[in-house]
Amino acid sequence: MPAQSQSTPVRALSFAPRPVPLSATLAVNEALARKKRQGVPVLPLGFGEAGIPIHPALTRELEAAAGRGGYGPVAGSAALRAAAAGYWTRRALPTDPSVVVAGPGSKPLLFALLMSLGGDVVVAAPSWVSYAAQTSLAGAEAVRVATPPGEGGVPSPALLADAVVRARARGRTVRTVIVTLPDNPTGTIASEDTVRRLCAVARDLDLVIISDEIYRDLVHDPGHAVPSPAGFAPERTVVTTALSKSLAAGGWRLGVARLPDGPFGRELRDSVLGVASEIWSSAPAPMQHAAAYAFAEPPELAEHIDRSRRLHAAVTGAVADRFAAAGASVTRPEAAFYLYPDFGPLRDVLREGHGIRTSSDLTGLLLERYGMGVLPGSAFGDAPAALRMRVAPSLLYGEDDEQRLAALASPSPAGLPWIAGALDRLTEVLGDLIETADVGEPVPA
Ligand SMILES: Cc1ncc(COP(=O)(O)O)c(C=O)c1O
Repeated sequence: MPAQSQSTPVRALSFAPRPVPLSATLAVNEALARKKRQGVPVLPLGFGEAGIPIHPALTRELEAAAGRGGYGPVAGSAALRAAAAGYWTRRALPTDPSVVVAGPGSKPLLFALLMSLGGDVVVAAPSWVSYAAQTSLAGAEAVRVATPPGEGGVPSPALLADAVVRARARGRTVRTVIVTLPDNPTGTIASEDTVRRLCAVARDLDLVIISDEIYRDLVHDPGHAVPSPAGFAPERTVVTTALSKSLAAGGWRLGVARLPDGPFGRELRDSVLGVASEIWSSAPAPMQHAAAYAFAEPPELAEHIDRSRRLHAAVTGAVADRFAAAGASVTRPEAAFYLYPDFGPLRDVLREGHGIRTSSDLTGLLLERYGMGVLPGSAFGDAPAALRMRVAPSLLYGEDDEQRLAALASPSPAGLPWIAGALDRLTEVLGDLIETADVGEPVPA
């Protein structure tokens, strides 16, 4: 024992740290890992990871830059900002490199934006877990506005004005609305008409729009265009994206933001750079090098993303079919690797048979009894009594890179034994859930 502790008494702290719960997506992952360690078979449908291997060309680029130990500019390297500008310009959003800011993932960039903008934030209900959580960490209030039916990610323009006017009447300062195009948790894409109307309302209400377009390149039908608010309200829209989803490099932590051009955009950039300079200094230099390569979209990466898009479409569609067959109602996913089934049609059966009243009752039962990890709609700001859940099938692609590569290469991945096995297990679990509810007495697994 160090000598000091003999003379200096240890004194417990009189206060507790501010309670900040673990992000629901990370928490379900940890719960499943625990079950797996206990030898319980699991059906991992909770975690929003792309589930495909890193492309070797990206690893090569990262290795080539591993010796770059310097911090570099806060906004990111000139090469990365030029490549990201090119990426957006090819998507009909002409971009000058000077409006691009890089960071260690889009999550910290979103947080920096919220810190810089100040004020309360309108988020869609449901919407990705971190928007509301970050808003409250920033000391502001999340104003939840329902999405139009079947169009996730965008607060209904018809309800937005009323919600903002009411919040302002209570003395709140609402400055920002966040949209997700395409959407997590629903896997859907808002229509161009909805996005245009949202932009018109944002203009009337003097709101900044943050458009999180991290899933833009994972639209299942490549002919389905993603309407960005930056195309309709360029003076007030910030767009964010990252390598995390389309290239499955979430652990590499690299994201970029495209700020508006013009005086407001320049002030916002200065402020975001100030926040960045105090929190992360600069995005990791080797990652920036690899990201510059990725945002230039060489054919080998474009093909890889194309294959992953097809894989997500096939497996997400097959999982949606299994939920629909069990009696849930499901809007067909259009992008990314998520679906958002609604067990509303089975509400009476689930309540009478299992005492289920909320989405977290339902997902808790699925986890405990069947080792099936999904997230309750309430984690996304949905009403607790709505029996919806977010399902992310991408961890079914394989246990190792060999299986994941086979899934990427397969013309019908849902037929591969390990994916077909998981789909059958899903059917079994959902069937048992309904059946055991029907007979009244829940049967232990
Ligand atoms: C909508 C959305 N935005 C942002 C992120 C996180 O992005 P990053 O890895 O760039 O921080 C996620 C990850 O789940 C997401 O679903």
